[in-house]
Amino acid sequence: MSGPLLKVENLTKHYPLGRGIFKKSIPVIRAVEDVSFSVEAGETLCIVGESGCGKSTVARLLMRLGEPTSGRVLIDGTDIAGLKKDALHAWRRRMQMVFQDPYSSLNPRLTAGQIITEPVENFERLSRKQRQALAADLSERSGCRPR
Ligand SMILES: Nc1ncnc2c1ncn2[C@@H]1O[C@H](COP(=O)(O)OP(=O)(O)OP(=O)(O)O)[C@@H](O)[C@H]1O
Ligand SMILES: [Mg+2]
Repeated sequence: MSGPLLKVENLTKHYPLGRGIFKKSIPVIRAVEDVSFSVEAGETLCIVGESGCGKSTVARLLMRLGEPTSGRVLIDGTDIAGLKKDALHAWRRRMQMVFQDPYSSLNPRLTAGQIITEPVENFERLSRKQRQALAADLSERSGCRPR
């Protein structure tokens, strides 16, 4: 499909602070305010900014791990806000979040080989041999000896 792989239009996320009795008077945290950008296939985009400026909130909205207050996220031209459960599930296979803290993002009960092949195993069944070959290939490509 032509056009950007990811398009973000006027993305805004406000978190209500507390639960006021009168709706209008609820103060909000403006976590993300009017953010727009697009990313082409093969392109890498870095979002940089001081702590609390809204980077993680943008990432969560892209994964639809939260609903935007306003604005749109289009992936391959599809507005992810309109996706129902099954369709969203299918789209999630194409979107991955890699968390920065290895202590909370890696499972200490798994071997290194299991950890690096787990994402693939979520989508296709691998034989023991295939899994070992994949783990060895990925290790080597990232500069680690498979052993
Ligand atoms: N669930 C939430 N409820 C209320 N406020 C929130 C929530 N999540 C984030 N915020 C607020 O929204 C703002 C943006 O937070 P966010 O975590 O997106 O920043 P960040 O740029 O990722 O920061 P860091 O560099 O520290 O990771 C902050 O003021 C934060 O306190
Ligand atoms: Mg963050």
